[in-house]
Amino acid sequence: MSSDPSAVDFSRLLEEERELVNRRLEDIVAGQASAADYMREALVYVLLDGGKRLRPLLCLWTHDMLGGTRRDPCLDVACAIECMHTYSLVHDDLPCMDDDAMRRGKPSCHVKFGEAIAVLTGDALLTLCFEHLATLGERWEIDSSVVVNVMQVISRGAGADGLITGQALDLMSDKLEPNLQTVVQIHERKTAALITSAMTSGAIMAGANASELARIERAGMLAGGAFQIVDDVLDVQMDGETLGKTPGKDAKDGKLTYPSVVGLEASKKRALEMVTEAKLELGAVARDSATQRRDHLNELLDLFVSRSK
Ligand code: IPE
Ligand code: IPE
Ligand code: MG
Ligand code: MG
Ligand code: MG
Repeated sequence: MSSDPSAVDFSRLLEEERELVNRRLEDIVAGQASAADYMREALVYVLLDGGKRLRPLLCLWTHDMLGGTRRDPCLDVACAIECMHTYSLVHDDLPCMDDDAMRRGKPSCHVKFGEAIAVLTGDALLTLCFEHLATLGERWEIDSSVVVNVMQVISRGAGADGLITGQALDLMSDKLEPNLQTVVQIHERKTAALITSAMTSGAIMAGANASELARIERAGMLAGGAFQIVDDVLDVQMDGETLGKTPGKDAKDGKLTYPSVVGLEASKKRALEMVTEAKLELGAVARDSATQRRDHLNELLDLFVSRSK
C-alpha cells in the first residue's frame, strides 16, 4: 500500500471509473439478447473480464477536462471504443496474425472458442461499436451532428488509414526498412490512431472547438506512441504472468519494434519525452474549472510509461 495519500486517491478513482465502464459494457452485452448463447459467451469472455480500460478513461477524462456536460452519453462513446479496441486484440491474436495464445491473463479467444468464433467475435465487437454509437440519439438528447462527428473520428482511427494499415505494416515487418521512421509509422497507425480517436471523441462530446481538437489530437498521437513504445519494451522485459500475454513474442516473430531499432534505454527515454509533450498539449486546453481532471489525465499518462502490464 502506498503511503502517498494522493496516490491512494488516484488508484481509488481509477477503480471507480473502471467500474463505471465495466457496468456499462455489461449492459451493452446484455443488449445483444438474441445472439446465440456461445456468441454471447465469447463476447463476455473477451470484453467483460480483464483489460485496463485505458481508452475509455482517456475518452471520459478528456471530455471532463474540457468542461463537458455530457458525461453519461460520453460513457457510451467510451465503451463503444473499448468494443473496437477489444475486437482489434481478438483479431491481433489470431493464428494468421500474431498467433498469440494468451490475452488479458487467460487463453486468447481463438484458443478458447476456436478460430472461426474468434473471427466472428471480433466482427461482432466492431459492429457493436457502431451500433452503440448509432443509437446514442435514442438514449440521450444529443445532436445527430455530434454523433456523426464521433463516428467519423472513430472510423478513421480504426479504419484502413489507421489501425488496419498499422496492423498490415506490423505483419510485413520483415519486408520493411528496419529504421525508426518505419517503426514510428507502425506505432502511429496500429496504436496511436485509436488512442487519439478516444481522446478526440471525448473532446467532441464536450463541444471542443477546432483549435482545442488539434491540441487533443497531438496529445493523443504522442500518448499513443508512448504507449506502444512501452508495450514493445514490456514484451522484452516482463514475464508472462505480470503481462497477461506471451512475452518475448516480438523478437521471436521478427517484429520491427522501438527497442529493436534504438535499444531499450533510448526507447524508455523517448516514451517519457512523448508523455511530457502530450501533457503540455493537454495543459494548454484544460478548463480552469477542470484542473483536477487535467491532473488525473496527467497521472494516467504517467501510468502509460510506469505500467508493468
Ligand atoms: C494492448 O492494449 C494492445 C496495444 C495497442 C499495445 P492494452 O495494453 O491497452 O490492452 P488491454 O485493453 O489492457 O488488455
Ligand atoms: C497490437 O500491437 C495493436 C493492436 C491490437 C491494434 P501488439 O501486437 O504489439 O499488441 P499485443 O502486444 O499483442 O497486445
Ligand atoms: Mg500485433
Ligand atoms: Mg500482438
Ligand atoms: Mg505488443
